[in-house]
Formats: sequence, C-alpha cells, structure tokens
Amino acid sequence: MEAFFDSAATSWDSRTTAGSYEYLEPLAVALGKVEVRPERVLDIGCGTGEATLFLAREFPMAGVRGVDLSEEMVRRATRKVGLDPSARVSFRVGDGSDLPWLEDSFDLVVQVNVPLFPREVARVLRRGGEFVSVSTLGADTPFDTPERWYRRALIRAGMLPAASGRAGTGTWRIARLSGDERSG
Ligand SMILES: C[S@@+](CC[C@H](N)C(=O)[O-])C[C@H]1O[C@@H](n2cnc3c(N)ncnc32)[C@H](O)[C@@H]1O
Repeated sequence: MEAFFDSAATSWDSRTTAGSYEYLEPLAVALGKVEVRPERVLDIGCGTGEATLFLAREFPMAGVRGVDLSEEMVRRATRKVGLDPSARVSFRVGDGSDLPWLEDSFDLVVQVNVPLFPREVARVLRRGGEFVSVSTLGADTPFDTPERWYRRALIRAGMLPAASGRAGTGTWRIARLSGDERSG
C-alpha cells in the first residue's frame, strides 16, 4: 500500500483533480453542516494535502494536522506549507489504524477517499466531536464504504451517523461521537 501511494504521489496533483472545486465540493458542503467550531482538525489519508489546506482555510483559528501512510505524499504535502513557524498546519507519516495521537485530540476528523478507521477516529475525537467522510466519486471509488457497513462500523465504535448527502460527483457523511461510551 505505501509503495503504491509513494509512487502515485509523484504525479498525484497533476493526474487527479485533488485541488479543484469539483473534487472538494462534497467536503465543502459537509463542512457547512458540521456543528463543532473546531480548534483541532485531523485529515486522515491526507495525500498531498489539498483537503488539509482547504480545512485550514475554512477554519482559520484551528490547528490542522494531516496524516498519511505514504512518506512521499507527506513530503509533497509538507512542501506546500514550508516550515510554517506557527505550526498551524503540519503533516506526518502515520497509519489510520494506529493514529499517532492521544485520545481526545481533535474536535473534527475528516477523510477524503480513504478507507474507514472508525475505532481510531472515535479514540482521537473529543466527546461531541464530529467525523466527516467524503467520497469524491460516490460509490464509484474503491474507497467508498457501503452504507450498511458504514453505519454498523460507526455505531460499534460509539459514533452516531448524523447526516449525509450528495454534492457534485461525490457523497459526504457526518457522524458524531456520542456520550461517553467508546467501545473497544
Ligand atoms: C485515494 S488517496 C486520497 C488522498 C487525499 N485524501 C485526496 O483525496 O487527494 C488515499 C490516501 O490514503 C492513504 N492511505 C491509505 N491507507 C492508509 C492508512 N492505513 N493510513 C493512512 N493513510 C492511508 C494513501 O497513502 C493515500 O495518500
């Protein structure tokens, strides 16, 4: 997986429409519906960082982190922010199934075209935090999770599916971390 995406990273921005309005439209629509005003935001499977930078723009007061399994994706994302002395936006290598953050680290966790990691998302989210997952081509990507699996996996992890919809060519979903019961 890392090797595949390391190699894909070299032409990701020119081959995909990752930074375009069309690509980010379902994310933009979903962000307009989240209830939290986040101070800490995480983008899982951030790739070359286009959605992460969009999050930084949408939430100018928030610290925004991007994490990806591929070193080359993270290198390219990091180049876009340079050294960023404020450290408001930064990227690091890490696995969505074993995130390198403590519990309760984020108010908002986002992922665009990435498989689900519900238990880890629930672990790093603060209570009442929200989770946005986007598939830019709806069900037509290998990264989309069918609705029934999505609901079951999220509920098992202690999150409640809250809203979903279509925008442009894609789909978006929002879930909230419920009460105190985080299941293991
Ligand atoms: C289809 S790309 C999407 C990249 C970016 N979110 C975008 O929309 O442009 C999937 C990304 O997920 C990353 N990825 C795959 N498995 C992962 C995992 N277990 N943990 C973190 N990142 C992962 C890949 O390296 C790749 O950058």
